[in-house]
Amino acid sequence: MTNAGALLLATGITKQFGGIVALDHVDLDIRPGEAVGIVGPNGAGKTTLFNCLFGLEVPDEGTVVFGGRRIDRLPVWKRSRLGIGRTFQRMELFEGMTVADHLLVAEQAASGTVRIWRDFLHRGGPTPAELHHVEEVLGLLGLADLADRPIDTLDLGHARLVELGRAMMGTPRLLMLDEPSSGLDGEDTARLGRILDETRRSTGVAVVLVEHDLALVESTVDRMVVLNFGKVLATGGVAEVLADPEVRRAYLGITA
Ligand SMILES: Nc1ncnc2c1ncn2[C@@H]1O[C@H](COP(=O)(O)OP(=O)(O)OP(=O)(O)O)[C@@H](O)[C@H]1O
Ligand SMILES: [Mg+2]
Repeated sequence: MTNAGALLLATGITKQFGGIVALDHVDLDIRPGEAVGIVGPNGAGKTTLFNCLFGLEVPDEGTVVFGGRRIDRLPVWKRSRLGIGRTFQRMELFEGMTVADHLLVAEQAASGTVRIWRDFLHRGGPTPAELHHVEEVLGLLGLADLADRPIDTLDLGHARLVELGRAMMGTPRLLMLDEPSSGLDGEDTARLGRILDETRRSTGVAVVLVEHDLALVESTVDRMVVLNFGKVLATGGVAEVLADPEVRRAYLGITA
């Protein structure tokens, strides 16, 4: 592995739950602007790795360095201020609030201008710079026409895009997504893939995508990592990895 210039470098990540070794000395590096897919069978450790990177879990062993700084003991909010944005697997949207307001709160939370919800409700109006960034991200995600719609009137596909928008508001250098296509039909998944591509192109953000939908992974990432029983089974270009006999047997269940 060449580590020079890595945006994120995780080394020897190990995590146990009781007797279960969820991650066993996993290494992962993400270069600036690169999109990496993390795939593998159920229980392989994908979500545990994801959580160790952004701070929901603390690894038992190993280090995570982001932008040259050790982050593996930092809380989630500090990692987010440093430039790691992520979508939540369970969506956290606030009923009655508009699409634009969701992004505005995320922008203010990311920049540290609002600490608690009450501050947002009682403070003066948003700054022109904040409003401008909200408009920019709404445009990028194709949500401009829905800006004033209450969030609970959106279908799941558009609600997922709002989640993506919230993760993008702090202008992250790394965007992390865990199963963003879950519950979406083929058409909504394809649109999500196109918008992710466009987001990468126009912002240069690096992406970690944990995903079961291989079509979305193939169309989105530069490189793929296959986890199996908490270990890295293979890593490389998508076509190369999917042709690997070990991967075909362990992950795709193909024995030929
Ligand atoms: N909080 C926890 N407590 C106990 N065991 C856990 C916990 N989280 C994960 N595990 C176990 O660790 C292993 C890895 O789980 P993880 O959720 O990371 O897998 P995954 O690859 O994300 O699976 P899936 O594809 O089903 O989302 C599994 O055996 C799981 O049961
Ligand atoms: Mg998972």
